[in-house]
Amino acid sequence: MEYTILGKTGIKISRVGLGAWQFSEAWGLTDYRAAKAVVARAVELGINFFDTAMVYGMGMSEVFLGRALREIGVKRDHIVISTKIPGEFLNPIDIFRSVEKSLRNLGVDYIDVLLAHWPPCWHNFPTCEYARAMERLVLMGKVHYLGLSDYPVELVEAFRNCLSRIDIQILQVRYNLVERWAERTHVPYAEKYNMTVQAWSPIAKGALTGKYEPGKLEFQDVRSRDPIFHPGNYTQVWSVVQLLREIGEKYGKKPVQVALNWLITTSPVIVPIPGAKTPEQVEELADSVGWRLSYEDWRRLDEATRNLSISYSVVYVEKDVKVEEH
Ligand SMILES: NC(=O)c1ccc[n+]([C@@H]2O[C@H](COP(=O)([O-])OP(=O)(O)OC[C@H]3O[C@@H](n4cnc5c(N)ncnc54)[C@H](OP(=O)(O)O)[C@@H]3O)[C@@H](O)[C@H]2O)c1
Repeated sequence: MEYTILGKTGIKISRVGLGAWQFSEAWGLTDYRAAKAVVARAVELGINFFDTAMVYGMGMSEVFLGRALREIGVKRDHIVISTKIPGEFLNPIDIFRSVEKSLRNLGVDYIDVLLAHWPPCWHNFPTCEYARAMERLVLMGKVHYLGLSDYPVELVEAFRNCLSRIDIQILQVRYNLVERWAERTHVPYAEKYNMTVQAWSPIAKGALTGKYEPGKLEFQDVRSRDPIFHPGNYTQVWSVVQLLREIGEKYGKKPVQVALNWLITTSPVIVPIPGAKTPEQVEELADSVGWRLSYEDWRRLDEATRNLSISYSVVYVEKDVKVEEH
């Protein structure tokens, strides 16, 4: 396994992490033994950076991940767990309550990195109040580091200005080869301030694996509503998959591995956190690092994906409402 450093902490993290949202009804992996097998293979392969959240399965993901890591017997200081507190809980009452619950769910006495999952956009909680409550958790040792997920950089800046003695270490953003908005904002910001960019949906929820053929898409999980699989978008993704396949053949790698390698080749601060449902998937994900695409191949993928037009309003725009009069 290839390793890098988490933000400015000096702590060693694997160059690819493992997302644990999969351990929830949203993704359908709700059997603890199956989840444990995924975590065990990740640990065997040297992955030590795990991402979960309070809302994933309303605690199921945290419980499964924490229990699996304990049962496998990995040393606590050899792993780094990030968990996330939703925007709705970002007030001093709920922060302390929910972090206590998260510690119990994970079965740990400190959280490595606590991230605000998204801004409190519906509740008007003052930024500095919840930033200081989160900093208090760090000063008291319940949390070691802070991060922000799905925050525009303008709000990242506002949050950082509220902190007294510490800085954030992670920006977590949606970022993959076909959804590259983060490159214009978060990646340069993280490079400037030496933060880690945790790239979520780094394989576009499986779209970049090449295993889902257009016209045969039928999902029973969270993907049934994801615009990336809508035909208008997926046709573009599918042409990228063909290029990933062609380039992958040169390296003896699968499309999913080339897609992840493209991210880590782009910047040293980017650490993808793909999710996996089986130990075999983890093996492929782990083998997406420890090597690099050539500059020419990186550029071919850059040019092929720079001007895609993925649309998120596609379902709304195409739907004609039938008005019935009684
Ligand atoms: N901060 C946020 O708002 C946010 C939002 C979303 C996710 N996240 C985090 O990011 C993590 C990953 O993102 P994501 O869950 O959206 O999806 P993703 O990592 O882009 O895709 C994961 C899915 O791809 C498929 N897959 C994985 N490895 C594969 C392989 N080697 N070969 C073939 N298929 C493979 C699996 O599903 P199938 O086998 O069913 O195809 C897996 O569930 C989550 O677990 C979570 O920790 C954060």
